[in-house]
Amino acid sequence: VVSGVQLTLATPYPIFCSPGALDLVGTVALEHAPAHRYAIIVDDMVAGYYLDRVCDSLQQFVPRARCVVASVPSGEMHKTREQWARLTDILLAAGCGRDTAIIALGGGVVGDLAGFVAATFMRGIQIVQIPTTLLAMVDASVGGKTGVDIPAGKNLVGAFHPPAAVIVDPTTLRTLPERHLRGGLAEALKHGVVADAAYFGRVRDALPSIGADAETIPDLLLPIIADSIAIKSEIVARDPRETGLRKVLNFGHTVGHAVEAVSGYELLHGEAIAIGMVVESGIATALGVTDGSLWAPLRDALAAAGLPTALDSALSRDDIISLMYHDKKTRRGNLELSLPTRIGAMAGAENGWSVPVGEAVVRSALGG
Ligand code: GLY
Repeated sequence: VVSGVQLTLATPYPIFCSPGALDLVGTVALEHAPAHRYAIIVDDMVAGYYLDRVCDSLQQFVPRARCVVASVPSGEMHKTREQWARLTDILLAAGCGRDTAIIALGGGVVGDLAGFVAATFMRGIQIVQIPTTLLAMVDASVGGKTGVDIPAGKNLVGAFHPPAAVIVDPTTLRTLPERHLRGGLAEALKHGVVADAAYFGRVRDALPSIGADAETIPDLLLPIIADSIAIKSEIVARDPRETGLRKVLNFGHTVGHAVEAVSGYELLHGEAIAIGMVVESGIATALGVTDGSLWAPLRDALAAAGLPTALDSALSRDDIISLMYHDKKTRRGNLELSLPTRIGAMAGAENGWSVPVGEAVVRSALGG
């Protein structure tokens, strides 16, 4: 059953993607993350929908007494060092040790937070990622980035800790609020921009059908999710620790992460990244990195996805720029961005896949 839904990918860990894959958790955990105890770290909104199914699947193989559940409040503002400490304390109090594996059930916040717990608990234990948002399915659950946000910026404390397996069940998208579904489309469109113009076109063509009927979402998005995972897996397999090529997946994120934080996390990650991609496309245009075929089609596709494409004038440009300097691509104190040359191709191969950008160009592209 399990082999039938495993995607053929470059990642060293299996990714299972299929409607109903949620019921495979027990089998997948037993085979790919065998453990004495399992700690399920779950988003408290998601728990009401899918926790029982995951527990039932796991408890086919593991006694209930060896399954620990810890929930995390929904929302990016909870991806913190405090939640990391609380979760590790819960695991310790429940008797978890090195022979425990974590199961992360939720969106990118839970995946990143649970992943950082897994990376650090007893110096590292296995984790199975079960993303239940579109954004986590197409992006966050794949590639082993884990971490927490701190006041100085997003994801500034973390670790690379690849999962033992990823289980993607697109039927969980039926209960995802539409705003979050649209947020995930930003990362899918990003994968098209950085690597595959034909994929960008397929996502754009699907946009008018998205949101009309929640029942149709899993079938409509299954091929988009699978293709996005394939694009990301290929890049991550070639540069797992982001020494070069993987930086292209940061397109839109240098500005986007700063905008997200300055909004006080009022903007969803995908919404901030949509704005970030438009602003960074403007920077690419100003620098002559792109030929001009990028900005308008990308802006139009993001708008068609129902995403914001302009920066609120109330957000402080100074604060955004100041946070941008904490970006992990910053070299010798200078800003570097991952910028496209056109839809489907990125610039900067000769410079480790990022382009130096002066602050004045950024300030002008931010407008306001
Ligand atoms: N989300 C970008 C990356 O995983 O590298």
